[in-house]
Amino acid sequence: MARFHALPVAAVDRITDDSVALTFDVPPELREEYRHTPGQHLALRRRCDGTEIRRTYSICSPAPEPGAAGPATLRVGVRLVESGAFSTYALKEINVGDELDVMTPAGRFTLEPAPGLYAAIVGGSGITPVLSIVSTLLEREPGARFCLIRSDRTAASTMFLEEVADLKDRHPERLQLVTVLSREEQQAGLPSGRLDQERLTALLPALLPVAGVAGWFLCGPYGLVQGAERALRGLGVERARIHEEIFHVDAGAAPVPSADAPAHSTVTARLDGRGGTWPVQDGESLLETVLRNRPDAPYACKGGVCGTCRAYLVSGEVRMDRNFALEAEETGAGYVLACQSHPVTEKVELDFDR
Ligand code: FES
Repeated sequence: MARFHALPVAAVDRITDDSVALTFDVPPELREEYRHTPGQHLALRRRCDGTEIRRTYSICSPAPEPGAAGPATLRVGVRLVESGAFSTYALKEINVGDELDVMTPAGRFTLEPAPGLYAAIVGGSGITPVLSIVSTLLEREPGARFCLIRSDRTAASTMFLEEVADLKDRHPERLQLVTVLSREEQQAGLPSGRLDQERLTALLPALLPVAGVAGWFLCGPYGLVQGAERALRGLGVERARIHEEIFHVDAGAAPVPSADAPAHSTVTARLDGRGGTWPVQDGESLLETVLRNRPDAPYACKGGVCGTCRAYLVSGEVRMDRNFALEAEETGAGYVLACQSHPVTEKVELDFDR
């Protein structure tokens, strides 16, 4: 069960003009709770003018060894989003010594170190979870290799440039690094331009044996991830080998209530071992119904992107407005995003503990 704890900020490092890395100290008694798998994220919470803001940020620091103690520190990358309420606060106001509400790690865009060849295609701040994945993998698994293809606007706007260069220095044979800048020519390397489906389709077979890659990790803006997925599928890569994490999706049009929604419906939810049944109000998501009665229900983005609100659908049927977080095998196994789910049957039962 995800929980928030107040963690002190140990460092605020400016990494580009518009991004910072925040490091949190984790007290010894909480380290087990913050044990994470490479690629997971943390939700941060801020209360401001009577409203609560939550945002998820990926952990960029390596994950601890399975048998070792949990992490003593956690580091996340935050890039400024235009008019972003949390990122503006993170870049301009957070200081060393402040305490922030930090949720325990969540997310399934992960890789447990294992031998083999892996690859990532990332755009902008999409490097953040992949940095944890690559550094943990290369440090811990001598039989693993990684091809990192990253796309940024300019060298100056590239997050974690030094950290990635250090990794390349430490593992020159096992880390293949390919950088494409969209708005700047490089002295060496690939010509500038966007990494779209067409370019990736031509580029990938020239870079690595596509069919021999055990896992592909796509992370960044929606357009890049979609283009990369289509390129990989076109090159014959099975969907099960492709892992995706999208950082931002425009809100889009408000969902239209479905004509077949029942006039009255209830949701029964189990959360942290306790259950309850509550009526669903007109048009609200099941997460909103549960939150009105159980404020400890897990969520972060409320936009179908982060996956924090994942729950198992025990019985009944739901309609999801959108889903950018769950893989096909998770929906196939009966999981839904509570923040995007609306009842189709009069009774719906969710289990957040499964
Ligand atoms: S809260 Fe992020 S997907 Fe539901």
